[in-house]
Amino acid sequence: MRSAAPVSASGSSPAPEPGSATLGEPGSAALREPGSAALRAMFPALSETGAVYLDSASTTQKPLAVIEAVHRYHSARTANSGRGTYPWASGLTREIDAVRARTAAFIGAEPDEVCFTGGATAGLNAVALSWGLTNLREGDEILFSPRDHASNVYPWHHLARTLASFGRTIRLVPYRLNGLGEADIDDIADKIGPRTRLITVAHLHHVFGALNTLEELRGRIDPDIALCFDCSQSGGHLPVRVDELDADFAVFSAHKMFGSPGTGVLYCRRRRHPELTPFLPGGNSGVTLRESGLHAGEMPHLLEGGTHNLPGILALGAALRTLEQIGLDAVHAHNRALTQRLLAGLRGVRGVEFLPGPAHAPCETGYGIVSFTVPGISSTDVGFVLSELGFLVRTGAHCVPAEDAPADENSVRVSTHVYTTFDEIDRFTECVTTIAEEVT
Ligand SMILES: Cc1ncc(COP(=O)(O)O)c(C=O)c1O
Repeated sequence: MRSAAPVSASGSSPAPEPGSATLGEPGSAALREPGSAALRAMFPALSETGAVYLDSASTTQKPLAVIEAVHRYHSARTANSGRGTYPWASGLTREIDAVRARTAAFIGAEPDEVCFTGGATAGLNAVALSWGLTNLREGDEILFSPRDHASNVYPWHHLARTLASFGRTIRLVPYRLNGLGEADIDDIADKIGPRTRLITVAHLHHVFGALNTLEELRGRIDPDIALCFDCSQSGGHLPVRVDELDADFAVFSAHKMFGSPGTGVLYCRRRRHPELTPFLPGGNSGVTLRESGLHAGEMPHLLEGGTHNLPGILALGAALRTLEQIGLDAVHAHNRALTQRLLAGLRGVRGVEFLPGPAHAPCETGYGIVSFTVPGISSTDVGFVLSELGFLVRTGAHCVPAEDAPADENSVRVSTHVYTTFDEIDRFTECVTTIAEEVT
């Protein structure tokens, strides 16, 4: 069984020393080539141990530009934004505004529709608390998938319980996923009723790697029903435009798109702004106290409060710049090709069973997420053996709420990104083959 080290993108030339790479000119050939040694060298942690990182759906590796942005904030002109008038502070305020504008352009929104949050979980809870709490009436309904990530399940349960404690009952209506792991559109259509106020969906499912756009519902449902997309897994992996999704709300997780943890983005479409109430009133939230009481300010500050995660937001700006330089279409194409290579390899391994996802699709699709099981050995044990050999994958139930996760959701999940190479995928397949042969 071959272990993971050493890593060479092409299989011939060794990767450059970490730190020797610069971002290069935007659009330079080296940057545009996913899987190349030059591109991999932008991610110093990859060359530290020679391990094969196949867990990008948990969090992505960080490019030098992001590491430098975090370091620069802490080591020079450290200030707060939106407050002081001296150049360090006003310069930083302009930088934060620029990241907001870049983020808006990146997702197809306007800057006042983009709020900075602590992550996707924080963003979904913000939708529940700043929109749901004040807009949902007795008997209103939210459609959701119990097989989504807990961060797109628990906030709605928490909202229902909070409203119930004030004597208001809302209904959480679960919809099914189909055999490909996609939201079952017919089931959703059947369950939409006069009291449906919100449909929430994973844009890209974190275990099944299936894409959901809800486009089949367009024109068929009351346009006042709010659509909420969890773009934690699609952001930074394929071009995502909230305007094309017709989203009212969308959340992004910066640490899954090359950024640093504790930062995220909540998109709130303008038509929803009058329905929003602050959920973090305090300094920097635009809220003012007048004789008549608290007055909410304008978006996007309406849903923000306190000191931002400033290095995190600057890192997000650097992450988006890096993604733009590589090109989202190239990222998407590389992940699709890696998915196909992995599926082709694992299909030849006796006993491997795929969870819903691209393995069952009628065409060659894939977004860099594949989950599977090996009968005769638990996914935890497979993960342990793989990690001993230098292959880092996620195993378990993947944050799908326990009571809703069928036993087969307990699986090995492989997730890739632009730094993943075909050679890594081949060596991974070889190891899984050996493990499967030993247990069957
Ligand atoms: C689909 C999905 N939604 C939400 C989250 C939570 O994201 P964050 O860590 O930014 O709160 C994750 C993280 O694993 C995820 O995969």
